[in-house]
Amino acid sequence: MIEQQVVRVFDSKYGQKPMMVFSPGRLNIIGEHTDYNDGFVFPAAIDKGIYAAFGPSNTNFCEVHALDMEERFEFDLKQISPLPKEGWENYILGVVHGIMGVGKKVTPFRLVFGGDIPGGAGLSSSAALENAVVFGLNELQDLGLSRKEMILISQKAEHDFVGVNCGIMDQFASMFGQKNKALLLDCRSITAMTFPVDLNEYQILLINTNVKHSLADSAYNKRREACEKVASLLKVKALRDVNLSDLEKVALLVSEEEYQMASYVIQENERVQQAGVAMNANDIDALGKLIYASHHGLQFQYRVSCEELDFLVDLTKPETDIAGSRMMGGGFGGCTINIIKKTSVQKFAVKAATAYRKKFGRDCSVYEVALSDGTHLLACD
Ligand code: GLA
Repeated sequence: MIEQQVVRVFDSKYGQKPMMVFSPGRLNIIGEHTDYNDGFVFPAAIDKGIYAAFGPSNTNFCEVHALDMEERFEFDLKQISPLPKEGWENYILGVVHGIMGVGKKVTPFRLVFGGDIPGGAGLSSSAALENAVVFGLNELQDLGLSRKEMILISQKAEHDFVGVNCGIMDQFASMFGQKNKALLLDCRSITAMTFPVDLNEYQILLINTNVKHSLADSAYNKRREACEKVASLLKVKALRDVNLSDLEKVALLVSEEEYQMASYVIQENERVQQAGVAMNANDIDALGKLIYASHHGLQFQYRVSCEELDFLVDLTKPETDIAGSRMMGGGFGGCTINIIKKTSVQKFAVKAATAYRKKFGRDCSVYEVALSDGTHLLACD
């Protein structure tokens, strides 16, 4: 539906058939805040994302329409810098700037996009948009960029134009996702092992708190700095290179907060490896326990959870048909990921909705998602 709407708007504005791109959001089974520590993550692309229509422009300007926001914006390729206001425009500008930064020539283009990932849900609508833009321009203007080059451009856009010093997980998962598979990604080498996701009588269920607390971006950058500080005291490139006994050597040189954060990262990296083993063995119980342990660490050690997320996770604990639950993504809001028996999805969805409304006076949203292919062209007839 969104796809057709995007095509229709493009066609009616420009009288042209566009080139269509789909770029997915992502979920993450386990491995949170490990990516910028050169560690391991276990994401998958989902069947929600950005639909983008591209075509060449015969003016000197680039023109972009964001259908969901009903906003339009024009820019000159000779004058690209971040806009002071926060908004979707900076993702586009950042990507275009990044493409030119690697020595490729961009010519004026038209872009209309819309999507079905709620912003702030922790499902990486921003990476989906960045990847849609870099992939679409690469195809439209035959730039010859590899997928790996493209995700580095997307990530740099987020650093330089949005101000979030994110890792590579979101852009990687969105670009390299595979249908029905999760990717165990080594964020140092940027290579992944693929795992078919077959959870027997279980499935993945996402529950969106529908909140995003405003300190999220600055808290994110602060966490990253703390990790880098501990790594540099330990004289290693990243926390990926140390274990808990190494950490003891600098325990007296760091604050209690920093110590707890670094411990969390070291343990979470271990958990991702163990989750790969559990997934191979189809051991849902073991996977679920790791997922709960991840949330515990994010809540108490890394301290990026919030009341709403903790409430939804706690609600699952007495449920015998739920193997694991945790907050997902950067934190301070967004979704929980739950491993739940298929037969219990409806009942638990109602229970969670009722309890959440009673507690917070607002609604949570429940999403059943399928694992999808990464950023790709769509046939357009
Ligand atoms: C955000 C960032 C990712 C990653 C997660 C936390 O989604 O964009 O790079 O750090 O938070 O795991």
